Amino acid sequence: MRMVDLIDKKRDGEALTKEEIRWVIDGYTNGTIPDYQMAALSMAIYFKDMNKEERAELTLAMAESGDMIDLSAIKGVKVDKHSTGGVGDKTTIALAPLVASVGVPVAKMSGRGLGHTGGTIDKLEAIPGFSVEMDTDTFLKQVNEQRLALAGQTGNLTPADKKLYSLRDVTGTVNSTPLIASSIMSKKIASGADAIVLDVKCGSGAFMKTLDHAVELAEAMVEIGSSVGRETMAVISDMSQPLGRAVGNALEVKEAFAVLKGEGPADVRELCLVLGSHMVYLAKRAESVQAARQLLEEAIQNGDALEKLKAFIASQGGDPSVVENPAQMPQASEQIAVSAQKAGYIKEIAADKIGTAAMQLGAGRATKEDQIDLAVGLVLEKKTGDYVEEGETLATLFANEQGIEEARKLVEQAYHIVDEKVEQPTLIYKEIY
Ligand code: URA
Repeated sequence: MRMVDLIDKKRDGEALTKEEIRWVIDGYTNGTIPDYQMAALSMAIYFKDMNKEERAELTLAMAESGDMIDLSAIKGVKVDKHSTGGVGDKTTIALAPLVASVGVPVAKMSGRGLGHTGGTIDKLEAIPGFSVEMDTDTFLKQVNEQRLALAGQTGNLTPADKKLYSLRDVTGTVNSTPLIASSIMSKKIASGADAIVLDVKCGSGAFMKTLDHAVELAEAMVEIGSSVGRETMAVISDMSQPLGRAVGNALEVKEAFAVLKGEGPADVRELCLVLGSHMVYLAKRAESVQAARQLLEEAIQNGDALEKLKAFIASQGGDPSVVENPAQMPQASEQIAVSAQKAGYIKEIAADKIGTAAMQLGAGRATKEDQIDLAVGLVLEKKTGDYVEEGETLATLFANEQGIEEARKLVEQAYHIVDEKVEQPTLIYKEIY
């Protein structure tokens, strides 16, 4: 086989065979296919798309390019949740213990990643003593005993995707539905999930800015999942404003705790219940999504979810008293109010700007080497649809000297205030099976 022939074939709109896709991914992973040819093929895919069979094969080939995590030692259906990423998204921290509290095994491996705040495991490290370092045997034992473990990613997962994603990033080929869908699904499949719940975010703070694009990506991933034998569903949720009120590592952990106490912002709670219901249903712990939701609501009400959270923290070396006393987590030295410059209704809170504000304060990483400050971030006092008086606080910055003026400006720019009354945005746009 010659790579140039496959590039020509795709450029002319033909489908690649399974063997051809495997050959490309193997060659690219082991370095016999150079970046420039892979970039040309990616661009051809960008313009000519891939059919259902090609997408499934690309996903499997990338999943199998490195280690495949074997979760068969864990009893029950292992359901994983993946979010395409948004500002203030702390759902995993509440959702994992919530779902585990009704008997669904949650074996989650998370990365650190780059972004406005740290990833889930960075956030959890705000808990004194909490550790995500564990070997595979401990991880599996913990899920069997506790129904829940959350570990940092080890080993060599999906090297083909890592290499290809970096290449796409610099060749204008990130925004391609078959390439995004296969990239995300390859990681979920290599992580050993039997079933997958996807939270596809839609709006200014998300990868997918419009509902049509979000639906297209969600449908592509659901189709790949069923083609490769992993039951998959997707929820399309709003990211036209940040999720909840807190953005920043320790601040988000505190908000996730509040949800399991039956408190916390309504949107975070609702999203956890919606995603959780589908997880419980796919794990076959309930006969319908509605019955699953009822189980989860009961677990919040009767305190089971909160107990599971405390047991989970203790089992990973953390101090569970942090749940009742979140001030044990790193605290910022200053709190600065950002006030409204005019009265009116909040029409929009540009989530991307709020994310950048958190980053300026030091909550996220721009490069892998950056240190994140777990204490800093911001809390939105007003959300879309709220009324604000002139001079009233829109958001509070939690800062440790760094980036205060930049963050203040970004928050002021993020809030769009108008005279007419504004409806609250829809939180869940669609659920796709
Ligand atoms: N996230 C991924 O993991 N892959 C993509 O291609 C895009 C977003």
